[in-house]
Amino acid sequence: MSNVQYDFSGKVALVTGGATGIGRASCTAFAEQGAKVMIGDIDERAEETVAIIRQAGGEAEFLPTDVRDKAAVDALVAGTLERFGRMDMAFNNAGILPPQRPIHEVTDEELDLAIDVDFKGVFYSMQAEIRHFLEAGGGAIVNTASVGALIADPNMSVYCAMKHAVSGLTKAAAVEYAQQGIRANCVAPGFVRTPMTQHWADSKDFTDMFFQHNISGRYAHPEEIAGTVLHLCSDAASFVNGATWTIDGGQTAH
Ligand SMILES: NC(=O)c1ccc[n+]([C@@H]2O[C@H](COP(=O)([O-])OP(=O)(O)OC[C@H]3O[C@@H](n4cnc5c(N)ncnc54)[C@H](O)[C@@H]3O)[C@@H](O)[C@H]2O)c1
Repeated sequence: MSNVQYDFSGKVALVTGGATGIGRASCTAFAEQGAKVMIGDIDERAEETVAIIRQAGGEAEFLPTDVRDKAAVDALVAGTLERFGRMDMAFNNAGILPPQRPIHEVTDEELDLAIDVDFKGVFYSMQAEIRHFLEAGGGAIVNTASVGALIADPNMSVYCAMKHAVSGLTKAAAVEYAQQGIRANCVAPGFVRTPMTQHWADSKDFTDMFFQHNISGRYAHPEEIAGTVLHLCSDAASFVNGATWTIDGGQTAH
């Protein structure tokens, strides 16, 4: 439970990648603040997220969805409207971390997979969400970028390029739809302890190296990203549009 209160009662949030990590923390945070939550994910552990929300008295559903599949993403938005009758906010968070290699060693398969999940998945999601928000008269979109949308690290070229693309796409949506009541923003997390990064967090060598360059002295908890996601979806952020908000414990300030 976060310390900040938002009133999302009667509202519906769509979250992709809600099975684990930042997505799960955001789903439960939305539900704690009164929202009904639809989760799209390829991982059946999304059912656990649904169970956590229902046990706490909230409402949530899971529709198995591969964000690489445009038709499936369209069906996810349609399913949200069918189940809950509305959709007010969307958190496009599903993503993968490509293998870390120098640019000249990246394979075509690795590149294609990252483009499909980390870029096209967000693009398809936004297309379907925006079509609905245009009909509904507005809505809020938050995409998960990364500090990799702002800076580069060695052997992270593909991830970095995809997250820069997500940030750019978000700005483009803000510019195109501001007059129609649609806001689009990004969160740009630094290092968050989730299944995606567990192998790094478990490595003493990596942790020692990382904290030489990171002033916070710790990794973020997924809930610390969820708080900003909720804020960006709320009326408290009504004039925030096209922004990429860094949540990195000061990593990029250093
Ligand atoms: N953990 C970090 O340090 C960190 C930092 C910056 C950005 N991010 C971003 O945060 C987002 C969430 O990552 P996380 O750290 O919570 O990791 P995670 O692995 O726990 O979550 C990623 C989620 O995306 C889902 N997913 C993957 N491919 C999918 C597909 N094709 N269709 C639908 N769902 C799919 C996974 O099943 C999982 O639920 C990602 O976009 C990631 O790039 C993470």
